[in-house]
Amino acid sequence: MIKAIPMMVLATSNFGKARELAHFLESVPVKVTMLCDAKAKLDGVEGKSDYEQNAIAKARRAAEVEGKTALGEDSGLEVEWLGGKPGPMSARYVSPDATATQKNEALLGELEKTPDEERAAKFVSLVAIAEPSGAVRTFRGECSGRIAVEERGNRGFGYDPVFIPDGYEKTLGELGVEVKNKLSHRAMAMAKAREYLEANC
Ligand code: IMP
Repeated sequence: MIKAIPMMVLATSNFGKARELAHFLESVPVKVTMLCDAKAKLDGVEGKSDYEQNAIAKARRAAEVEGKTALGEDSGLEVEWLGGKPGPMSARYVSPDATATQKNEALLGELEKTPDEERAAKFVSLVAIAEPSGAVRTFRGECSGRIAVEERGNRGFGYDPVFIPDGYEKTLGELGVEVKNKLSHRAMAMAKAREYLEANC
């Protein structure tokens, strides 16, 4: 008897994020695909200032339109000096169309006069797994560190070139995915999601 492999669709249009999410699902017996035409299909679902609500909304929308289990993730960078901003608005910081370099430059500009010891920040990841029925589970992860004084490294995506994780002197943009996937906010959330999926697939 052939057992069908369960399918899971990743509710994101961000390739950097999708690559990392798929990596954490390699040990799970599911066939992972990226949501096709994700920008259009997820249009308007996020925008709340709450990671969990945004992640659930993305996962539920993808599960509904594809008729498959879907995984959505909402993440952001919280800078202590800025009172936790940009947070859930990280993708839309400066403007929704700003490039990662423009966002990083704007952030470094806001912290121009901020001393080293006041540059604490953390990445937050909220992962939601939704079924077409609407049933949903969520998993949270965090990664603490600080904001560099300049952009360094071109590996990774988004704010990686300005984020130095605790215990390191290099940015995630310099350290690359081998290190990032061991300690990132996404790694922490996905370890919990993976444990759930391995027990339930
Ligand atoms: P969203 O989850 O699609 O709202 O996007 C989150 C935004 O936060 C991304 O577009 C990045 O700007 C930023 N972000 C989230 N996770 C990471 C990461 O692992 N590295 C760098 N930037 C990130």
